[in-house]
Amino acid sequence: MQRLRKCGHVSGEDIGKDAGISRTAIWKHINELRRDGYQIESSPNRGYRLISTPDNPFPEEIKAGLNTHILGQSVEFHHEVTSTQDIAKSVATKGASEGTVIIAETQTHGRGRIRRTWTSLPGGIYFSIILRPEIKPTEALQLPLIAGVAAAQAIRTVTNLRPSLKWPNDITLDGKKVGGILTEMSAEIDRLDWVIIGIGLNANIPKSRFPDDVAGIAASIGEIYGDHVSRVKLIQAILTRLEILYEAYQFSGFEDIRQEWKRLSNTIGAQVTINSTSNKISGLAIDIDQDGALILQKEDGAQERIIAGDVSLRNTTHD
Ligand code: BTN
Repeated sequence: MQRLRKCGHVSGEDIGKDAGISRTAIWKHINELRRDGYQIESSPNRGYRLISTPDNPFPEEIKAGLNTHILGQSVEFHHEVTSTQDIAKSVATKGASEGTVIIAETQTHGRGRIRRTWTSLPGGIYFSIILRPEIKPTEALQLPLIAGVAAAQAIRTVTNLRPSLKWPNDITLDGKKVGGILTEMSAEIDRLDWVIIGIGLNANIPKSRFPDDVAGIAASIGEIYGDHVSRVKLIQAILTRLEILYEAYQFSGFEDIRQEWKRLSNTIGAQVTINSTSNKISGLAIDIDQDGALILQKEDGAQERIIAGDVSLRNTTHD
């Protein structure tokens, strides 16, 4: 694949010499690549030539041209899994290194926050990243916010669209949810073992395919962009931005990212209602604090610190 990517035409014999395999084995491999969506021309005299690569989030595609040194150094792709979170947890428990990324084309049991189902149709982006930050478990609430900033910046880089962030970790475009982040972790009382950041994005899913319960509130990035959006480029851009933010966070703390999150947010300054498993509370969202918790000013003027829940915006000061 490397040889095909670099050169124009390359003969089967040359590839064989490099890889130490027979011409028949190469021919089989070329056919496998074609089945995976690679367009490869072959001519008897000049050999093989790569015409186009598929927009499938295969490790070779994600890694080609990715300039990170932690995130995405190890990438696994699966056609179908229960949830990329399950695979990531299992490999993290066995010692997988920080930055390992698990990607799937579809998930049979994709999950969102608050035990919700995350419908994972082909054409979307579903991946989990293993992190091993040296932070206290109480600071872990900051990580999905950092990932949200990275995802919003990445969508902007690739499409020029300007997503907003809805606390705690929804990515929205034109007021519709286009993505979400689920963070799961394993910790002792005072130290984290691993954190898994799961990111789901409706990249190129036609609106007609959304299930009824989300059709009114969800959208697809490609539909708003007005064209197919490259999943490979989006994943690469998220890994790149997340690595930059994650390193800055470990070096200088959360404050700058907190400010950036607030700039990108459609929650701060909005009248909101927060539903949690135990109650429902309304007020003005005025801030997020140092831990990433939402500060709500209630109608009686009292402030309440919210660490979990589902936010509905009643009206907003920005998009
Ligand atoms: C939410 O908005 O509630 C969070 C959704 C997170 C979905 C992603 S898709 C990749 C990873 N695997 C899962 O099962 N969930 C996360």
